[in-house]
Amino acid sequence: MSNHNIKHEQWSSRLTYMLAATGAAVGLGNIWKFPYIMGENGGGAFVLVYLGCILLIGIPVMMSEVLIGKVGRQAPARSARLVAAQSGGSKHWSVVGWFGSVAGFLILSFYVVIAGWALAYTFYGFSGDFTDKSPAQIGNIFSTLNQSGGQLMAWSGVIIFATTVIVGLGVKAGLERAVNWMMPALFVLLLVMVGYAASTGDMGSAMSFMFNADFSKLSWNGVLVALGHSFFTLSLASGIMTMYGAYLPEKTSLVKTSLWIAIMDTVVALLAGIAIYPIVFANGLEPGAGPGLIFQTLPIAFGSMPGGQFFGGLFFLMLVVAALTSALALIESSVAWLVENRGFKRMQAAVVSGFSIWLLSLLTVFSISGESWTVVTLFATDMSLFDILDFTTSNVMLPLGGLMTAVFVGYVVNTEISKRAIDSTAAIYRLWWLCVRYVAPIAIVLVFLQLSGIVSF
Ligand code: PHE
Ligand code: NA
Repeated sequence: MSNHNIKHEQWSSRLTYMLAATGAAVGLGNIWKFPYIMGENGGGAFVLVYLGCILLIGIPVMMSEVLIGKVGRQAPARSARLVAAQSGGSKHWSVVGWFGSVAGFLILSFYVVIAGWALAYTFYGFSGDFTDKSPAQIGNIFSTLNQSGGQLMAWSGVIIFATTVIVGLGVKAGLERAVNWMMPALFVLLLVMVGYAASTGDMGSAMSFMFNADFSKLSWNGVLVALGHSFFTLSLASGIMTMYGAYLPEKTSLVKTSLWIAIMDTVVALLAGIAIYPIVFANGLEPGAGPGLIFQTLPIAFGSMPGGQFFGGLFFLMLVVAALTSALALIESSVAWLVENRGFKRMQAAVVSGFSIWLLSLLTVFSISGESWTVVTLFATDMSLFDILDFTTSNVMLPLGGLMTAVFVGYVVNTEISKRAIDSTAAIYRLWWLCVRYVAPIAIVLVFLQLSGIVSF
């Protein structure tokens, strides 16, 4: 029980809090994952369900996680246990805290490999590898990189090393300052890409693909993917928001900050889609291309636009930074756990976590480079270990974690406690309360039941 002193430490300002939380939220999920899962699941209807999940489930769950941290003022598992105790609930509710650390750890093991792709592309971009290349040649750059397990290991190794060092030395302050201007810059570059896509790509097809909801194209599995991604993209059910909430200044509005983070995150994801799809359709590429989508499309644009060598490198560099700020948040919960419960020094904890992540990341590396031992048959489909990691974390663990949080905050935590923490108008409190008590749990359970074949609509 080492750090009761963390009780009084708080973010220096509301702005630092928002930057750190937005930095954790905005990452590969927005720019890499959202566009390609939208493509795999048919476009518009998926987007609509995703937005509904963000609004009715993601935001209320985010508020709940911040609430637990704000009331508990300690690391996630301990905060949850404390809030449970104050409400007369079981101490086992600490599960709401630690379950997320496990999910975060598993997510990080493939997150670093994708961030490694972005790092490789930063170098390709700046060295002019995209200039005047045909879509087929751009596709080759991607497949050549992925044929080499050694290359993938090296690029992701650099990411793991950087994450470990930054967390170990506790030099996040410098990084957060960098994020200060890199996030806005990433935003501006995305807008530039949208402008470019609008002038040279097929914006009409992109818009109708993204915003015409054709529900016949959306399967129940697609609904689960949308639900899971709403948790992934907002960094929910991974202990992160509770951790940040523990440092939330007393006067800062939990409602406004949660809304702000969710809006920023959603805008970045939609912009990424609007930047990518006009290029997809103008070049006859496949919307369902899968995880390689942005790496096979954006370089086409960079390769033919003025200043594309510089902007291409810069874009992927900023994607690396956005990924790093999320990776830091992801590794933090296991580092904090080792420090608090196993008496590790911070650097030791970082090295042990980093090394374990590296080992685990090899499953993803060799799945991508196509080693046959990584392919297993599950529910009568062939899946690579990477697919399984990605699927189980986003689509099983995160919704399950979110369900537990909603039930905990909606049914166990005293309403006086939640009212005081949320500190908003009666109407907003009521809306939140309805979502965590009914909408979120019922929706999550129904999607699970539907997919397990127990009920069918
Ligand atoms: N939200 C991050 C993204 O969209 C991923 C993440 C998940 C980060 C969970 C922290 C915790 O890229
Ligand atoms: Na995100």
